[in-house]
Amino acid sequence: MLKVRNIHTYYGGSHVLHDVSLDLEAGQTVALLGRNGAGKTTTINSIIGFVPPRAGSITFKGATITGAPPYTLAHMGMGLVPQGRRIFSSLTVEENLRLAQRAAGRRNGWSLERIYATFPVLQERAKSGGTQLSGGEQQMLAIARALATGPDVLLLDEPSEGLAPLIVAEVGRMLAALKREGLAMLLVEQHVALAISVADVVYVLNKGQIVFSGAPAILQQNSAMRQQYLGV
Ligand SMILES: Nc1ncnc2c1ncn2[C@@H]1O[C@H](COP(=O)(O)OP(=O)(O)O)[C@@H](O)[C@H]1O
Ligand SMILES: [Mg+2]
Repeated sequence: MLKVRNIHTYYGGSHVLHDVSLDLEAGQTVALLGRNGAGKTTTINSIIGFVPPRAGSITFKGATITGAPPYTLAHMGMGLVPQGRRIFSSLTVEENLRLAQRAAGRRNGWSLERIYATFPVLQERAKSGGTQLSGGEQQMLAIARALATGPDVLLLDEPSEGLAPLIVAEVGRMLAALKREGLAMLLVEQHVALAISVADVVYVLNKGQIVFSGAPAILQQNSAMRQQYLGV
């Protein structure tokens, strides 16, 4: 579904990603872990076209997409839940969702009915403005907005960031439900337990390099590696 091969990404003269490769198969949940500043968001930015890699290649559903702009990727079925949610706070919940549906222009976007059945809290808050929502509600809206575009792959950048433990657990249940529906997800997280609970495969980034890839259980058992690269 998504293949990242040996990418190198820079911000100006600063070389941030060094030979990063990863694979995401249809229906899989892949977690990308690493400390703050490891290069997780830069990996997402490279895939979604915000910061095209200078070397290496990325393919999505068999097509080369290296350096393709974000709107092209959205049309092709790549959905993004950005770090920090970035919902439109001047719009209501429903306006945020309708805007995403229209912008993507894809036929298989989730309907409002389907979104509200999956996220009942968003139906209760449908007419509320973005700023009136709690952090957890904003995160649910950010995820729902990406689903409204009808993605085949969902990229999530730290969906648990800044949320209270009970709400993190709720986000975890939501991700597990999306996984059961067969949605492929690339989950960037600093919350290791959350990532391990839903991921089929885990990658660990350290200083822009992949230092581990494998089954979550292996990372779970290797406390030295968790301590060294994740600080937990
Ligand atoms: N827009 C930018 N310009 C320059 N350097 C950046 C920019 N964004 C991130 N960086 C640097 O790139 C490295 C990786 O950052 P990032 O991908 O955001 O890490 P993570 O998401 O894992 O916390 C860090 O050293 C960060 O300071
Ligand atoms: Mg980040």
